[in-house]
Amino acid sequence: MERSAPSSVEIKARRMNFQHTENKPRYWHHGDAFMTHALTSASIFFPEGERFFIRSVRNYQDQVSDPKLQEDIKGFIAQEATHGHEHTKYNADIVKQGYGFLRPVERQVKVGLALLNKYTPKQFQLAITVALEHITAISAGMLLAYPQLMEGVAPEHQEIWLWHAVEETEHKGVAFDVYNEVGGQYWVRVLALLLATLSFIPAVFLLLGRFLWIDKKLTRQTWQELKNYHQGKSFIFKEVGGHYLDYYRKDFHPWEVQNQQHIEDWKAQNDRQTITI
Ligand SMILES: [Fe+2]
Ligand SMILES: [Fe+2]
Repeated sequence: MERSAPSSVEIKARRMNFQHTENKPRYWHHGDAFMTHALTSASIFFPEGERFFIRSVRNYQDQVSDPKLQEDIKGFIAQEATHGHEHTKYNADIVKQGYGFLRPVERQVKVGLALLNKYTPKQFQLAITVALEHITAISAGMLLAYPQLMEGVAPEHQEIWLWHAVEETEHKGVAFDVYNEVGGQYWVRVLALLLATLSFIPAVFLLLGRFLWIDKKLTRQTWQELKNYHQGKSFIFKEVGGHYLDYYRKDFHPWEVQNQQHIEDWKAQNDRQTITI
């Protein structure tokens, strides 16, 4: 079983400065309200969530003695910071499309995470990060492994998602390795995934429902379109469900799924200059 990232994986942030996060078509995901809003609903949580991840890893940065892991932490922080930056622009464009209800939602997420920082133990905060990084990593891995999930989406609207998926894959083991290095307990890591699943996933679906309600898309037709879209893809979701459950094993490690080839494939077509923050 793999216990660390393959040596070919370098964790460095890239400055992408996407030109297509603004003035997006309302339903940029193949003209479909459900898929567009599902991804957007996740994006609303990213900037504040990623700042929380950075804080929770920084809490332990000076306790990590392994120089390679120290380097990886720097890369992790730089990558998450640039994700927050790009998704902030992405989300602002959504608000401009007439979804003003998102502003208070963003504030609530910020307050909620600040309360977590204030009132819960640091180990628990890091465990929540490890758990949410697992959910992110399996979603990212799915997006990279199965291009059919982006079927019908213009290349310029796939950009931000594929870039984010690549960097999430590159750094998927960092928070996990920090957690182990500083003696994080198994039961706290497992509890954190349970809690993260029971809070983050319903929150995304609630937002999605609100988008669809506002757009008057909570209809039989939307449901039918979703069923059509999912046809032939259910095996993907089964596979992801399996990866999700692997986390509950005591000997789990994010790099037991060796999917670095997807990073290489993306880099062959898209690589950019790296930056240091
Ligand atoms: Fe990220
Ligand atoms: Fe991440």
